[in-house]
Amino acid sequence: MFDSGVGGLTVARAVLDQLPGEQLLYIGDTANTPYGPRPVQEVRRLALTIMDELVDSGVKMLVIACNTASAAVLHDARSRYTRGKGVPVVEVIHPAARAAARVTRNGRIGLIATQGTVDSNAYDDALAAVPGVSLFSQACPRFVELAERGVTTGPDVLATAEESLAPVKAADVDTLILGCTHYPLLAGPISYVMGEDVTLVTSSQETAKDVYRELARADLLRAPDAPTPRHEFRATGDPDSFSVLARRFLGPEVGRVNHAEFAPTPRPASNEDPA
Ligand code: DGL
Repeated sequence: MFDSGVGGLTVARAVLDQLPGEQLLYIGDTANTPYGPRPVQEVRRLALTIMDELVDSGVKMLVIACNTASAAVLHDARSRYTRGKGVPVVEVIHPAARAAARVTRNGRIGLIATQGTVDSNAYDDALAAVPGVSLFSQACPRFVELAERGVTTGPDVLATAEESLAPVKAADVDTLILGCTHYPLLAGPISYVMGEDVTLVTSSQETAKDVYRELARADLLRAPDAPTPRHEFRATGDPDSFSVLARRFLGPEVGRVNHAEFAPTPRPASNEDPA
């Protein structure tokens, strides 16, 4: 599983809750966070470099625990790893879109996400076939910065939430997709600003169900008598600061955090694309 930073830990938490026997290898690309404002080719390159590393480490499944990366690279990832190497790939956009379509009562769904995710129209595409649904999208880049700093409460967060959420609030949505894996870390202030009649939808629980479904379908679930899983966490940036936040957001399963040995870089040295 990977994300641009700590946000994917919200997905990791749900996966470990639903599949406590599975063993997790998580990479946080903290050296290159945030992905949201980067051009799609850069996100694609970073994500493929990390997924190559995960596959080389012997994982049996890939989880793209980042909306921006899911929007940028899902198609290529399925062709490169699933069709190419038999490694299933699970992402976070369709699970959240499905959940939102199920819970909306007035058909007006809000989406808050990074600029990259909003510009990709990935959620519009995921909801296009659902009759009677309109999507109102808003990029909220400052939420990522706050979450990566571990600032999830306090006056700054509330002021940012009031300002960033004003357009989706004005659109009279009854359901709000937190279309960035960092945003559930700010669910309290987001819900407070949107009001209790607005249902917040995150991708974590639904993505974890997809992980179970894919593993079961491919007969890849870990044997019940397998040794106790030993999770591993790697950060491309400073492992110590990642470790502090990871313990806070994921919990005691985070042991030692290692520095990732490889170095994904945002720009290719030549015009060659890694795919
Ligand atoms: N985790 C990313 C996502 O879900 C947001 C953070 C970033 O911009 O890198 O889109």
